[in-house]
Amino acid sequence: MTFSPSQPALEAAHGRVSHREFLPGPLPRERIEELLAAVAQAPSAYNIQPWRFVVVSDPDLKDRLAEAAYGQPQVRSAPAVIVLTTDMRDVMAHLDEVANPAMGEAGRQGFVARVQSAYGALPTDALETLGASQGGIALGYLLLLAASLGLGTSPMLGFDPAKVRALLGLADHVPIPALVAIGLPASAGMPRHRHALDRIVTWR
Ligand SMILES: Cc1cc2nc3c(=O)[nH]c(=O)nc-3n(C[C@H](O)[C@H](O)[C@H](O)COP(=O)(O)O)c2cc1C
Repeated sequence: MTFSPSQPALEAAHGRVSHREFLPGPLPRERIEELLAAVAQAPSAYNIQPWRFVVVSDPDLKDRLAEAAYGQPQVRSAPAVIVLTTDMRDVMAHLDEVANPAMGEAGRQGFVARVQSAYGALPTDALETLGASQGGIALGYLLLLAASLGLGTSPMLGFDPAKVRALLGLADHVPIPALVAIGLPASAGMPRHRHALDRIVTWR
């Protein structure tokens, strides 16, 4: 049976591909804000929301970002590149911000204590790995939501994290789960190629 998606999220999942060439011209800030406001709705463990976004559209900075991304042409071609970072140090210093008011004040205090107890003693590396894994959720949201808004994206791990950190003034402890070039696509991406379900799913 052929699967025919009929819901917007399914259409985005089955329709999106990476785009590596973009139309010239700026991407209005409002469109990026609309996208990131939706991406920020992603769920995370304990609702920690460790994702932080640096939107780079300044041409000179983008040129230098392209160098840090081993010259990948989509960084220069795209009107903007979203640098997705996660920062667990920031999260842990502001747990009150993510404690849901619906819990009530005592519930919020209990929540903060539980997260401190779960994550507070982790070594920096383990903490940041945890944050980066949650960042992957935001990345998935970003790619899907951009597609549903008619925007093309090129997610990238091909970059030198130390150079990107230096360029953007990011702290050493901050992981960068991906760079995402974004804009109106100028060409079709590669045709989709995916595992069949029976290759990746077992039923017990
Ligand atoms: C986290 C991540 C990192 C990636 N890094 C790069 C990259 O550095 N350069 C690139 O051209 N494509 C990169 N890709 C794109 C993948 O090659 C692409 O998603 C995959 O081949 C599936 O194709 P599709 O995105 O067109 O569906 C990356 C994708 C992801 C999700």
